[in-house]
This record gives sequence, structure tokens and C-alpha cells, in this order.
Amino acid sequence: VRPLTVLGLETSCDETAASVVRLHPSARGGRAEVLSSIVHSQIDDHAAYGGVVPEIAARSHVEMIDGVARRAMAQAGLDHADLDGVAATAGPGLVGGVMVGLGYGKAVSLARGLPLVAVNHLEGHAVSARLGAEVAYPFLLLLVSGGHCQILEVRGVGDMRRIGATIDDAAGEAFDKIAKALGLGYPGGPALERLAQTGDGSTIDLPRALLGRKDCDFSFSGLKTAAFRVAQTCETEQDKADLADAVQAAIARQLSERSERAMQAYAETHDHRLFVVAGGVAANKTIRRTLEATATRHGFDFLAPPMAYCTDNAAMIALAGAERLALGLTSDIDVVARPRWPL
Ligand code: KG4
Ligand code: ZN
Repeated sequence: VRPLTVLGLETSCDETAASVVRLHPSARGGRAEVLSSIVHSQIDDHAAYGGVVPEIAARSHVEMIDGVARRAMAQAGLDHADLDGVAATAGPGLVGGVMVGLGYGKAVSLARGLPLVAVNHLEGHAVSARLGAEVAYPFLLLLVSGGHCQILEVRGVGDMRRIGATIDDAAGEAFDKIAKALGLGYPGGPALERLAQTGDGSTIDLPRALLGRKDCDFSFSGLKTAAFRVAQTCETEQDKADLADAVQAAIARQLSERSERAMQAYAETHDHRLFVVAGGVAANKTIRRTLEATATRHGFDFLAPPMAYCTDNAAMIALAGAERLALGLTSDIDVVARPRWPL
């Protein structure tokens, strides 16, 4: 089968990203080659506000997208004539930003006569581990980001089954909000991980959510409330570091316990046992280590994307787009941006 080369665009939150990925298709998914990946982070634009401001994000995407896309093409050493398609995130996310990348993708598609592929951002995260290794479908996926926390059986693009999901906050959201309460600024996850390195949270008692429930759902609101309460009693830097360690351990434990349930059920019906964690929170080393140990204990191979492809990027969008293109799943030019779009 002929390789497929796709330009991917990602503008659903606070990174303006573009990437060129070449997929060598095969029956079980094929091998991906990242030819370029450019990510322009807007962190500095939003830091003063303590979080992402949608209006600022959308304006910044408008300013950056053309330059970022051109750099991705130049770094890949390709001309538009070398492309087989253009893929853009069409949701879920901040709709003002999504419209910018999707609109740019439509313009490229029309101007160059290339097929357009509208990609679900979550589907991008779902395939992201395939950017670093040749991973065959199906696999069991824990998707943990700032906006989402769910467990999926992934059989391929457009073919995913949800096994569990958070009933309140996402794991990354819990990291961000607790980090904010500790005065760590935005984005909170990486800052909290750094602080936790010097802490010992073993004496801090935080609630364990949904213990004993037979499903694979998550809940982080109780942990968040309890952590806020402890944060108010912190007096020294050491107190804060201890709480950061306790919070990180509690999140890692819940992710591990719920994944464990999913593994047990999955193992009953699958001989090929692979557990993948993806999304921004998968960049957390304690969480990676904890999940790897759990997977190994249950006879699963373990995989996480390379660090650069855990947080938002366009390589995962280009790859999901290429996989869709290989299946003939292209989009009409009037496809609309969707703020909400469950997998
Ligand atoms: O996937 P992502 O870039 O954006 C979404 O689609 O949401 O994930 C961002 C989230 C943020 O909540 C951020 O705090 C969290 O991932 N995150 C981390 C780490 N790096 C990013 N959380 C914990 N530890 C990290 N090292
Ligand atoms: Zn994301």
C-alpha cells in the first residue's frame, strides 16, 4: 500500500500546532513517521490570568497559524504537491480556536485540491502512542488530559468504545485547580509534579473516590475539595510540597485502581493485551510509573507516547487524519467546529 502524507493542524486550546506525518498503512494500523512537528505554546499570553482566556487564545491562533503551518511544511522539506490530505482538529475544545485551525485546513484543502479530514481531538490523543512505536490495534487506553479522563477500547480510528469516564472533573483539571490553590500558577500539572519531588505526603489523608464501585468511572471533586482545605493550613514551602506529593499519589492511585478494573474485564476477551496511557497527564512520571507497574502485574504490555506527544500537538492530529484517509473517511468542506464532541 502507498504511504499517505498528511498536514495536521491543532488549535483547540492554547497551543497553535502543525505537523506533517507519513503513514505507511497496514492491516493493523501501520507505521507512522513524523516528518515535522511545530508547537507554539501560548502559555506566556495566558499566565497573567491564571488560565486560558478563550478570546486571547483565538486571536493568537489567527496570528500564528499560517507561520506555524509553513514552518511544519519547511521542516518536512515538502511542497503541498507532496501531501495526500490535510487534517484539522474540529473539536472538542474552545470553539473560537477550533474554527481557526479548521478554517485554515479548509483553505489549504480548497486551494491545493486536497482531501479534508476533520479530526476529533480525543481521537488524536488516542492514536498518539503510535507516533513513537509501531503499535497494532486493538488496545486498552487511559486518556487523561486537562479536559478529559476516560478509559476506551481502541480498535482503530472511528472505532472506539468507552469503558469508563469521570463523573466530575478531569484528572488534569484536578492538578491545575489544586496547583492554583497552592499558588503554583498555570499550567499547574507540571509545576505540581516538580514541587512533589521534595515532598512527603504519606501522613496526609486524602479521600479515595468511588472505592468498591464495580465500574471504571472516575471522580476527582472530593479530592479537590479536601486538598483545598489542607492547602489553607499550609504554612511552609515544605507543607506545600508534602500536599503536592499526597495529591499526585492520590491521583496516580485512582487512575491505577480504575484502570486495573478495566484490565481485568478486557483480559477476559482479548489475547493481545496492551495498555496505553495518553494525554497531558501521561507526561507525569509518577503516574507513568504507577500505571506501568499495574499493567505489568496484570500481564499487559505498557506504552505511553514520547513526552512531546503527551500534551497537545498536531502530529497526533495528522496521524489520526492519515488513518482516516486510509479508510476513506474524509470530510465535507462545510464541516463545522464543535465545542463538544464525545468520542
Ligand atoms: O492533553 P493536554 O495538553 O490538553 C488537553 O487536551 O486538555 O493536557 C493538558 C493537561 C493540563 O491539565 C496539565 O496540567 C496536565 O495535562 N499536565 C500534567 C503534566 N503535564 C501536563 N499533569 C500532571 N503532571 C504533568 N507533568
Ligand atoms: Zn489535548
